[in-house]
Amino acid sequence: MIVFENITKAFPNRTVALEDVTFTIDKGEFVFFIGPSGAGKTTILRLLLSEIKPTSGIVRIEGEDISLLKKNKLPALRRQIGAIFQDYKLLEDHTVKENVAMVSEMLKRTNEEIATQVEEILATVGLKEKADLFPTQLSGGELQRTAIARALTTNPKILFADEPTGNLDPISGWEIIKLLQKINQAGTTVMVATHSEEIVNALKKRIIELEKGRIVRDTKEAKTHKEKTGEKKTEDDSKEDKHKEETQETKAGKAREE
Ligand SMILES: Nc1ncnc2c1ncn2[C@@H]1O[C@H](COP(=O)(O)OP(=O)(O)OP(=O)(O)O)[C@@H](O)[C@H]1O
Ligand SMILES: [Mg+2]
Repeated sequence: MIVFENITKAFPNRTVALEDVTFTIDKGEFVFFIGPSGAGKTTILRLLLSEIKPTSGIVRIEGEDISLLKKNKLPALRRQIGAIFQDYKLLEDHTVKENVAMVSEMLKRTNEEIATQVEEILATVGLKEKADLFPTQLSGGELQRTAIARALTTNPKILFADEPTGNLDPISGWEIIKLLQKINQAGTTVMVATHSEEIVNALKKRIIELEKGRIVRDTKEAKTHKEKTGEKKTEDDSKEDKHKEETQETKAGKAREE
């Protein structure tokens, strides 16, 4: 379970990227983060990876305050989170196969183990035929799938895809979303930052909407955090039946009055 507890992130130049952001994501959920450019979506990913620390508030993963983790525990944390960055971060002078194998190589798995795993993962993302090509030889959708493949090599419990359809035509975009759904159905918690209203509206998944660093809508919580201000918040407040999620989210907005 992922908990963001009253997270504020102000950068040294005083930009407040997130302000008093609170949400809980259960294991196995599929959540969209939406909101205009600069709303704070990528900042959430960077906090989750503990690349940056919150100015105030606590990020918990499986109950653990990640800011208290020793430096030598950070790689283990990051292996739990498959991060697919907005700019892919692929190595240009490495083939698809080599890019995907990179993390496993650092984990000192045997060559045979790595080869088998890479092959399996490339099959999952539909890139078997492209294994020996370099990033410059790939389409946008294929680059995105390479980045997803690389993120899957640690068998992460959580996958965060930052704007995975941003540079893609609608059909390739949908293929990526279908792939993320498939990964989610296999048990991985999936978080997707996106600008695509079409995808978000079609999928009927939980939506957390940010605006200028604040949550203005969370279709699962039924209440925005703004409305909660002043209330005493308990962990139990955030727990709801996950299975109701898909049917209830349209009603959620109306339930705010309560
Ligand atoms: N290292 C930094 N130093 C100063 N300001 C930063 C830093 N990183 C991000 N910001 C600012 O924090 C705010 C949130 O940025 P963030 O990247 O989280 O937005 P985003 O929602 O991911 O936007 P986009 O949809 O364009 O990717 C922006 O105003 C951004 O300029
Ligand atoms: Mg971003």
